[in-house]
Formats: sequence, C-alpha cells, structure tokens
Amino acid sequence: MSQHTVIAVDGPSASGKSTVAREIARALGFCYVDTGAMYRAATWEVLQRGISPSDHQAVINSVKTSEITVLIENNSSVLYRGEKIPLEALRSPEVNAHVSEVASIPEVREILVAKQRALSSQVPLVMEGRDIGTAVFPHTPFKYYLDADPVVREARRTGEGHSDLIHLRDVKDSTRAVAPLRIAADAFVIDSTHLTIPQVVALILHHLRKSGLRASSHH
Ligand code: DC
Repeated sequence: MSQHTVIAVDGPSASGKSTVAREIARALGFCYVDTGAMYRAATWEVLQRGISPSDHQAVINSVKTSEITVLIENNSSVLYRGEKIPLEALRSPEVNAHVSEVASIPEVREILVAKQRALSSQVPLVMEGRDIGTAVFPHTPFKYYLDADPVVREARRTGEGHSDLIHLRDVKDSTRAVAPLRIAADAFVIDSTHLTIPQVVALILHHLRKSGLRASSHH
C-alpha cells in the first residue's frame, strides 16, 4: 500500500491539539483527521443501538457491523451514518462519559486503526489522537505531543461549554492496556500552557521544515 506523509499529533484532552492539527493541515494542504471523532462516533452508534458500553462483546459486534463511513471532504475527515453525523452528537455528555471505555476495547481499536491507516494511502495527513505516533504510524518521522497544565485544560473545555470530566478520561486513556496515551520516544513535546495557538502552529511548522518535510512531498 503506497503511503503518503503522516504528521502525528497526540496529547490529552483539551491540550489544543485539534485546533493546532487543523491549522497545520491547512498550512500544508494536508488532510486533517480527527481520530477521537471516530471513537466518539463508534460510541454514539453503540448508544443509538441501545447497547450498554460495558457489554464489550456487544460493543465489538456493533463496531464490526457499523454503518459508519469515514470520508475525506475539503481536506478533512467527515463521518457519515446515512447522513453526516452531527458534531453535537459526537460531543454529547453521554458520549463523553462512555468513549474511554469503548476506546479501551482492543478489538474496537484494531478496526478503527485499520481505517486510520487506510486513509494514508489516499492523501498526506495530519492525524490527531492519543496513539498516532506510538501505535498507528510508529514509523512516521513527524510526531508531536501537545500538553498543557491540567487546570488550564479543564478551563479551556469549560470555556467551550462542554460538560466533560477530562481528568477522568485522561486517567482512563493513559492507563488502558492497549495503546495508552503516552509520549513516543521520538516525539517533539510542546507544553502549550503559556503559548497561543498561532505560536504552537509556528513552532511545529518550523520544526517540520527543519526535519526535512518538503511542501511538495504531498504530490
Ligand atoms: O480527542 P477526543 O477527546 O475527541 O477523544 C475522545 C476519546 O477517544 C478519548 O477520551 C480517548 C479516545 N481516543 C483514543 O483512544 N485514541 C485516539 N487515537 C483518539 C481518541
């Protein structure tokens, strides 16, 4: 399978990685992929089907028979189940409360990781998540890990108007057995506590150029 360039952006909730990853993709003309949205969509579908997230076998069956497809539109991944899945569904308190459990199931990860890898045969990617640099694309030379003070992250999420116990999710996401959130040995780590989004974006674009990423590498 021919593989395009992949830039991995990992980090905990509300570390600023979504906005940063989207901006980097825009600057380079790469496609932005939000893998958290894929775990959220799987969780949403499980709940829609009336399955309890603690019934792992039923969750696995749901993901295996999922009606969700990932498409690339306007340089961004979009999730469909019949129609486009609305953002409000993916960010609902119910999904927030159960997504870490669904994402901890190895068979679920296997299926979603295969979809994530398949996207790299289509176009160059900026892929955002928890395990992109460690598990999904461990061989990409372009890995970034964004972090920020937990108090600042909590405040950012509250400011967005979300009811989301991010600390709880971070503990679950960092302690699960398969592909937990951790810093890849070769990742460039950025603490964004005292940085603005444009500063983080500039830092990464500069580092990418220094690391040999050519603007033309996506053709
Ligand atoms: O990035 P996010 O907050 O939308 O992600 C939602 C959840 O999905 C997160 O709590 C853990 C899980 N996730 C994961 O396990 N692996 C990824 N690559 C991305 C997200």
